[in-house]
Amino acid sequence: MSRSERKSDHIRLALETGQQRKTGLDDIRFVHQSIPESSLNSINLKTEIGGLVLSSPIFINAMTGGGGEKTLEINRSLAQVAKETDIAIAVGSQMSALRNQEERRTFEVVREEYPTGIVFANLGSEATVDQAKAAVDMVQANALQIHLNVVQELAMPEGDRDFRGMLLRIERIINELNVPIIVKETGFGMGKETIEKLFSIGVSAVDVGGFGGTNFAAIENQRRLNKLSFFEDWGIPTAVSIAEARYMSPTYPIIASGGIQTSLEVVKGIALGANAVALAGYILRVLTDQGPEVLIEEINNIKQELTIIMTALGAETVKELHHTPLIISGATWHWLTQRGID
Ligand code: FNR
Repeated sequence: MSRSERKSDHIRLALETGQQRKTGLDDIRFVHQSIPESSLNSINLKTEIGGLVLSSPIFINAMTGGGGEKTLEINRSLAQVAKETDIAIAVGSQMSALRNQEERRTFEVVREEYPTGIVFANLGSEATVDQAKAAVDMVQANALQIHLNVVQELAMPEGDRDFRGMLLRIERIINELNVPIIVKETGFGMGKETIEKLFSIGVSAVDVGGFGGTNFAAIENQRRLNKLSFFEDWGIPTAVSIAEARYMSPTYPIIASGGIQTSLEVVKGIALGANAVALAGYILRVLTDQGPEVLIEEINNIKQELTIIMTALGAETVKELHHTPLIISGATWHWLTQRGID
């Protein structure tokens, strides 16, 4: 199976497998404020990631790579939706398009549809400096995402087996490119140890890509006979992962993602310490089930609800939301306590 066929398989299987709703965000509750001293009209959703100013903290995370008319049309729709709702968008892995010129259209269409938007390029950690530069050029990207997907590779029969040198390759890309470099997980989360390594090489931001939403172990297991079922419950839940990342630095830009679908989950992600929040599987589901118009409505609705929740909490900005009191219970509390995070 070619890389491109595998990618369209991923879209189908991601939709079939669905989102797991195990992010741990249900363990987070806000403390109601009866005298919040806020006003709905004063809420400011602006945020900053690695020097890029985003007008809203939510963005569309990397999904469709590979070639084919269907992926191109999904990317075109996603770019149109991002433009219409004024949010940033990441493209899916561009590696196959770097190897096969014909697939470039799948990605170029995103920049064509959204000439003034914030667009993130995307490659895996196997990328060289030259490939990273080419991926950025292909979509005139404002930043480059480098994804980490060790468990997915191990679960793929044709996947990588040698994970040495990842950090060094990422460091070279950071040193040689002149756009911000965001390192992201793809649904298994990041803990303190990983975050520390990434901070030490000077990444511009980390996207924790937590466990609890799209599950690539489950997706890959559908494609194999001898299933690695132990990987399906493997990973650091999104809520824990955000808290671990924020614990490692009070200031580093952190992106929350992994299973996020609602405005309340977005606000919880920010309150735990994220500067921005990315949605992937849920966006794809709404687009394919209900179409771009409904997706635009849904994103605008999430943005509107963010302002309502922030008003209730008395937090008029993303920065103020970082200081809102919250209660952490259940497995998330156990996890953070054992990891020495309070
Ligand atoms: C992805 N994801 C992904 N990530 C990445 O960095 N490069 C990629 O090419 C892809 N491809 C991809 C395809 C499909 C169909 C899905 C659903 C997802 C991972 C994605 O960006 C995200 O990290 C995870 O899906 C977890 O977030 P959600 O889906 O739970 O919101």
